[in-house]
Amino acid sequence: MKVGVVGGGTMGVGIAQAFASAEGCEVVLCGAREGSAEKGRKKIESSLAGLVGKGKMEQAKMDGVLGRLTAGKLEDLADCGLVVEAVREEMSHKKELFLKLQKICGADTIFASNTSSLSLTEMSDGLDRAVVGMHFFNPAPIMKLVEVIAGIQTKDETVAKVTAIAKEIGKTPVNVKEGAGFVVNRLLIPMINEAAGVCADGLASAEDIDTAMKLGAGHPMGPLALADMIGLDICLAIMEVLYNEFGDPKYRAHPLLKKMVRGGLLGKKSGKGFHDYSK
Ligand code: 3HC
Repeated sequence: MKVGVVGGGTMGVGIAQAFASAEGCEVVLCGAREGSAEKGRKKIESSLAGLVGKGKMEQAKMDGVLGRLTAGKLEDLADCGLVVEAVREEMSHKKELFLKLQKICGADTIFASNTSSLSLTEMSDGLDRAVVGMHFFNPAPIMKLVEVIAGIQTKDETVAKVTAIAKEIGKTPVNVKEGAGFVVNRLLIPMINEAAGVCADGLASAEDIDTAMKLGAGHPMGPLALADMIGLDICLAIMEVLYNEFGDPKYRAHPLLKKMVRGGLLGKKSGKGFHDYSK
């Protein structure tokens, strides 16, 4: 099947790699900005070359992935069976993209969104087909889960097809009805927010909070290191979606999280968050 992935950021690139890793998928990666798809493909190439160099991947597997992946533009997605968007988390931006795609793609092309918490129902409003959520987790080539999310108008048939596709590419899908944060982010991001509170209260250092949750709760990464990996701006945006949707003070973003985002301490991508990545 031909799959289009739109978005040259971490998630778009990771999702493109996840699809291209499966034999039988032909993937076109499109970036929102000029040259970002080519950059994304290069990023995948150097990450795979690193794995081959360490003996963790065979050269033939790497060649296969790269052979199935091209950098292209929206017009190249006309004959795709599925298009997954992973562009900026702004409703207007995503709607505008799907309106453009609707003019390019065939009537049978499934439109999917990797949104981390926006409403699929709102995203589908005004389109000729309802969008389905196909939510991958960072790092997308490695993480097994895909949340398949149905908005109010999403057809059962679309959900079933996307669930089957997720399995075909080696992921484990879970079916979720639309609700702010879906399953993972509704549970995970408030936990990260609380970890920011524990840090702000000075109960323990960021390192010790992370060690505590790794060794005391069996998490592969501590919550503050995870926040740095996800991006503090993204964590804050998800807390705000939860707060606005439920109006419940338990979803109030911690002032430390807000202050860090205001100060440009976004985590790994800015070189500093709860931990320092400048070296
Ligand atoms: N492509 C393909 N395979 C890769 C790869 C790549 N780019 N990079 C690594 N791998 C493989 C490795 O070869 C290794 O395979 P092996 O086990 O067969 O040797 C495997 O993936 C694990 O790689 P590493 O040894 O480098 O990784 P770690 O064992 O240190 O684990 C981690 C890294 C997977 C990031 C782990 O720490 C983890 O699970 N952390 C939690 C991540 C998480 O919670 N993510 C979700 C964030 S929330 C989100 O994304 C939602 C959004 O909406 C906000």
